[in-house]
Amino acid sequence: MSQKWVIGNWKMNGDLSSNITLLSAITHASGTAKMAVCVPYPYLAQAQVALQGSAVLLAAQDVSQFDKGAYTGEVSASMLKEFGVTMVLVGHSERRSLFGETDDIVAAKAASAIKAGLTPVVCVGETLAERDSGQAKEVVLRQFKAVSDYIGVEGLNQCVLAYEPVWAIGTGLTATPEQAQEVHAWLREAATQAGAVDISILYGGSVKAVNAAEIFGQADVDGGLIGGASLVAEEFTAIYQAI
Ligand code: PGA
Repeated sequence: MSQKWVIGNWKMNGDLSSNITLLSAITHASGTAKMAVCVPYPYLAQAQVALQGSAVLLAAQDVSQFDKGAYTGEVSASMLKEFGVTMVLVGHSERRSLFGETDDIVAAKAASAIKAGLTPVVCVGETLAERDSGQAKEVVLRQFKAVSDYIGVEGLNQCVLAYEPVWAIGTGLTATPEQAQEVHAWLREAATQAGAVDISILYGGSVKAVNAAEIFGQADVDGGLIGGASLVAEEFTAIYQAI
């Protein structure tokens, strides 16, 4: 059985005063799945303190593929570790599309997270044009394979996967539960073939309290990566409890 997860991705949102309210509210949510929040770098120290003693895990939204050195603006996996981070997103579609991250960079980032003992949450997903032209399977499996070939089965066993159709992120459009399940099954098969049998595969893209249970009810959906709705405590808590 794969571990169930609900992971919040704040993206570039938050401030010192509202973070405290949100973090304190989500630590009181009770449920059986694991919960994590991906906060912006400057707030890691604040969140580390706020989450202390709770079951909510601290995560980051990105990590450098490099260990240290002359890489202005980059943040290494070992720096994240110093602030109590245990997980990190790699290859989020916004990183791929807005910041030019290639499959190779994403794979190297996953490897550097693993090397530092962090759990990479490897994001994959097709654009609307790719879906419309019948390439969804090819794209998500190519993105998966780039990481899997680079880190091998041992690395893969330390990852969480997230399927995030680009056309459903922040758009209000959600994949139907059947569309999500279909892609999750492709990913499950590819991961199993690579030797990772218990990998968690999360769905992300306009998950809300009203649609969470239906999506989480699919056989190969092990939880969610939640963007916009993770900024509202009641909404995020309700999603967490829908699993
Ligand atoms: P959304 O974002 O829930 O706002 O669509 C999901 C994500 O990008 O992780």
